[in-house]
Amino acid sequence: AKPMTVPDLAQARRAGRRLAMLTAYDAGFARVLDAAGVDIVLVGDSLGMVVQGHASTLPVSVDDIAYHVRAVAGGLHRALLVADLPFQADATPERALDAATRLLQAGAGMVKLEGAGPHKLAAIRFLSAREIPVSAHLGLTPQSVLRFGGYKVQGREADAADRLRVDALAVAEAGASLLVLECVPSALAAEITRVSPVPTIGIGAGPDCDGQVLVLHDMLGLDSGHRRPKFVKDFLAGGGSVAGAARAYVEAVREGRFPGPEHAYD
Ligand code: KIV
Ligand code: NA
Repeated sequence: AKPMTVPDLAQARRAGRRLAMLTAYDAGFARVLDAAGVDIVLVGDSLGMVVQGHASTLPVSVDDIAYHVRAVAGGLHRALLVADLPFQADATPERALDAATRLLQAGAGMVKLEGAGPHKLAAIRFLSAREIPVSAHLGLTPQSVLRFGGYKVQGREADAADRLRVDALAVAEAGASLLVLECVPSALAAEITRVSPVPTIGIGAGPDCDGQVLVLHDMLGLDSGHRRPKFVKDFLAGGGSVAGAARAYVEAVREGRFPGPEHAYD
């Protein structure tokens, strides 16, 4: 199959084809996800928790992400490789440019950064103007865990929902070409998806986003040592093998069967 490109994301949305995204951290799993038809593979800073064993994503460095991007790139033929900018790698536009350049040179096709504060929008604008595709990430942004005081659903109060609506338009205006929405009420995610100029990818954001993402370890049912959030589904249980789990996930996302109401917040 021909490789997924950044314009293909918008094309999938126009065609009404849902995007299936998963994280991976090494070549072996990347190869299996790619063969299963996963459209986007994310080297997420979740690796700080699921690979490195930390309690948050804050300890992850650009070197860590770059190491895993090189590994994952070696396993992909078709999927678009997205790499997270880790904590404070986007603190200034110049730092973001340096980190993103390294991640693209390591094999990523897009970088993702969390939030929509003034310097985040500046970083998105700075990178986009320099030919670096950017995905935004709003809602429960795990790098904000200290301010949030834990991993909690975002956008439930009217003012927080308004903020999210404004931010979703602002990141696209700044140049983002994809928007991850994490742990927001389904109705709000559906509304943002309707008005967003760019495709949305949900995780704990209900069934009406343009695509879905899960952390690989979660969709394989691995015990993370943390409380399992309700948006997680174990696809290995029904899939029988890692390849079967990946195919079952892709199919369930494409057909709109995942997430179900039991995986969503209101
Ligand atoms: O780091 C990560 O795995 C992520 C996804 C959960 C969206 O950012
Ligand atoms: Na992340």
